[in-house]
Amino acid sequence: MNPGNQESRDQVLAMLRWQLESGADEAIGHTAINHFIVSAQIKNAQIENPRFENPRIAKPPLQRMAPPPVMRPAPPRPAIMASGASPHEIAAACYDLAALRAAIENFQGCALKTTAKHTVFADGNPDARIMLVGEAPGREEDLMGLPFVGRSGQLLDRMLAAIGFDRSQVYISNILPWRPPGNRTPTSAEIALCLPFIERHIQLASPDILLLLGGISVKALFDTSEGIMRLRGRWKLYRSGEREIPALATFHPAFLLRQPAQKKQAWQDILALRTRYDSLPVN
Ligand code: URA
Repeated sequence: MNPGNQESRDQVLAMLRWQLESGADEAIGHTAINHFIVSAQIKNAQIENPRFENPRIAKPPLQRMAPPPVMRPAPPRPAIMASGASPHEIAAACYDLAALRAAIENFQGCALKTTAKHTVFADGNPDARIMLVGEAPGREEDLMGLPFVGRSGQLLDRMLAAIGFDRSQVYISNILPWRPPGNRTPTSAEIALCLPFIERHIQLASPDILLLLGGISVKALFDTSEGIMRLRGRWKLYRSGEREIPALATFHPAFLLRQPAQKKQAWQDILALRTRYDSLPVN
């Protein structure tokens, strides 16, 4: 550096400042320094005089600090990725029902959760051989955090009782774990978003028979656009991991409350469920 050469001086200062900011706050001399002794000396000096300042901690001149790095906004990510992992990834990482329940309860990527009072995971017996899958919690379910506890749930209980079952012999969940506001029909986007959760739920519960309650349930799990009028009463095989589970679609109890004339068909479905259950090989 030429003495008096202002440009080089500024360059050197800039380089030193950059090194300081990078943590290089010490020059290496010809004689090795025993840092353990120096540290101990500094510590002792601090104990004796609390106002003693560590000479080895370089204090960058405040007004000469480099401007803070420019923060660029993160690239936009879909809402479902807000937690960093997709529902599919989250569900796949759950190896038992307790973990899945906790994961769903902690999931922040579905707007329905912001209006719901509870996450409705399941009711009944997780070891049961029959699993029922409904659509979504209604008002009472949302308040209590349990599926099918309102009027349609009471009808469902009567239907089950008619073939000799109660809730301890079945396991019950829904396609959606959160109530859509005002009990509106869930959108395809909401169903698609939550689908990995119920798919994993079925896989972990591993029932021998599925009873799908209503069009939303059967359409979501079989990815079909056919209506419930055509789908009900027909057995299909539902692929769940390595397994194929016999699945029967029937009318949703809420629909039966509105259209009691359809109970006759539902009764046939319920009887078919019982017959299928009775023919299962003993565990
Ligand atoms: N309807 C559903 O589909 N599920 C419930 O849990 C309650 C009503």
